[in-house]
Amino acid sequence: MNGQERETSLPRYLKGDDLTEECRALIPSLPLERDWLSTHYHLYQGFWFHARYLDGVLWMQRHFTAADSDTLLVTTPKSGTTWLKALLFSLLHRSQLSSLDHPLLRRNPHDLVPFLEHRLYLESNQSLEDPSFMAFPRLLATHMPFASLPVSVKDSKCKVVYLCRNPKDTFVSMWSFTNSLRLKDTAMDPSPIDEAFDSFCRGVSLYGPYWDHVLQYYRASLELPDRVLFIRYEEMKESPREHLRRLARFLGCPFSEEEEAGGLVDGILTQCSFESLSKLEVNQRGKSASGMENRWFFRKGEVGDWVNYLSPEMIARIDHITEEKLQGSGLKF
Ligand code: A3P
Repeated sequence: MNGQERETSLPRYLKGDDLTEECRALIPSLPLERDWLSTHYHLYQGFWFHARYLDGVLWMQRHFTAADSDTLLVTTPKSGTTWLKALLFSLLHRSQLSSLDHPLLRRNPHDLVPFLEHRLYLESNQSLEDPSFMAFPRLLATHMPFASLPVSVKDSKCKVVYLCRNPKDTFVSMWSFTNSLRLKDTAMDPSPIDEAFDSFCRGVSLYGPYWDHVLQYYRASLELPDRVLFIRYEEMKESPREHLRRLARFLGCPFSEEEEAGGLVDGILTQCSFESLSKLEVNQRGKSASGMENRWFFRKGEVGDWVNYLSPEMIARIDHITEEKLQGSGLKF
């Protein structure tokens, strides 16, 4: 398949055919690397983006106005975004929890909590300055690095919940996910793990370098503890009740005594568990607004699955990078 044929056969989330003039003009000046699929990453403000997502970032930097009442979930890709979207949605709409018509039973979390730079851009016929595109208080998500967030996010009092995951599981999850996309959406074979691993270690991954992404938000959470909450997937898995309560307090809606006594904390956790969400029809057979298959977002949901994929040399390399990058920061995985 030549370049042009490949571009026309690409799924919508990878196509670069309808980029804004601003993005088209910027791209030739940016460093370029081959991505893990069949297009390229562009280095913008120190991080790697697909053209389409870069377009969304530029658009948001110009047009998005954060409101004090917004909650913004920021994650590194493949760190458990789907889970946190579900948890935050359930938490903020908790009066609906026992409804038989609960939105989470019918829709994938990515369709309930849009990515600022993905879905809204895909639906670019909606005016981003028209606040009616979502009811307030809004729950939004992004993978944008801290340095690239729209200025209004930093200037407003909106709350930022940041989720990340240990680099080895993040890599394995990202590689597996990319292989699903390659097989289904680009008719390519799975990528050899050592090639993808080398890219990840060099910082060349979607919204990478992974370590820089994590460190920017970790530092922001230390400087602005009332505005930025830093959570790791592993701690969420280890003590989900404690962390759900922590999220509720951070967002200014702690569980009341009645809610605690009524089992609301466990109710939300059960509804958003891997087991519950992955069994739903919508998540087994549905597609999200971006065109991706919902089932790809539910693989194993375990901590430490990397032992099944990484060689001792790979482990030594990635552990060494992590130690060097995080040295002196106070952050550990
Ligand atoms: P694995 O690939 O290790 O299984 P993201 O949502 O950021 O794309 O991350 C996807 C990862 O989160 C996948 O990890 C997926 O299985 C896991 N995941 C999805 N839903 C989950 C849930 N409800 N609880 C825990 N992990 C979940």
